[in-house]
Amino acid sequence: MGKKVVITGVPGVGKTTVINQTISELASEGVEYQNVNFGSCMFDVASSQGLVTSRDDIRRLEQATQRELQRNAAQFIAKSDGNIIIDTHCTVKTPKGYLAGLPEWVLKELMPDIVVLVETDEDQILMRRMADDTRVRDAEGYRALCEHQQFNRAMAASYAMLTGCTVKVVVNADNLLNNSVAELKTILR
Ligand code: AP5
Repeated sequence: MGKKVVITGVPGVGKTTVINQTISELASEGVEYQNVNFGSCMFDVASSQGLVTSRDDIRRLEQATQRELQRNAAQFIAKSDGNIIIDTHCTVKTPKGYLAGLPEWVLKELMPDIVVLVETDEDQILMRRMADDTRVRDAEGYRALCEHQQFNRAMAASYAMLTGCTVKVVVNADNLLNNSVAELKTILR
């Protein structure tokens, strides 16, 4: 049995950047991880049904549609063998409020060993979002980002209660990517 590690963080915190560098460095040590992006699994199904044209449309779909896409993605990912990293969200900010990224039926499919929260200071996240013109990020202020990061911690605690996984916070501070990668590697080895 491989390890299943769920890696989360608010949009723009840099989780994909941290994951990609970590996987590449671990591979050079002979430790293999497959990276599965939960949003990509949802997007592939949603776009094939003509529901979305970009990843940023997914969080604006009807709640029931998002739930069905989550279930499909979880069932698909659960079939993977070996060590896997699941790049996803603890909570998704939808127009009707926070949606759990890993509701009970998703958790039961995935049964993660570890949930990682990638975090950093809110002003750094705001600057990263503003600098990234490849995505349609929500325009949010400092307080809203604080709330989202706090909400993610609360939700991660509930995931630990339901599955027995551990929860680890990894800080991805500006220009200190190597520190967050080093910390994540120690968890994944
Ligand atoms: P997804 O694509 O995962 O959304 P996202 O959070 O927007 O992810 P990104 O990968 O774009 O952002 P990131 O935080 O990883 O930042 P990045 O590394 O690019 O998911 C798409 C959609 O799918 C979601 O919106 C949602 O609707 C849906 N979805 C996914 N999972 C779901 C679930 N479980 N349930 C329901 N829906 C779900 O970095 C950002 C920038 O920061 C880059 O410019 C980078 O160079 C810079 N940067 C990174 N690290 C540093 C550093 N240390 N110092 C300076 N700059 C840095």
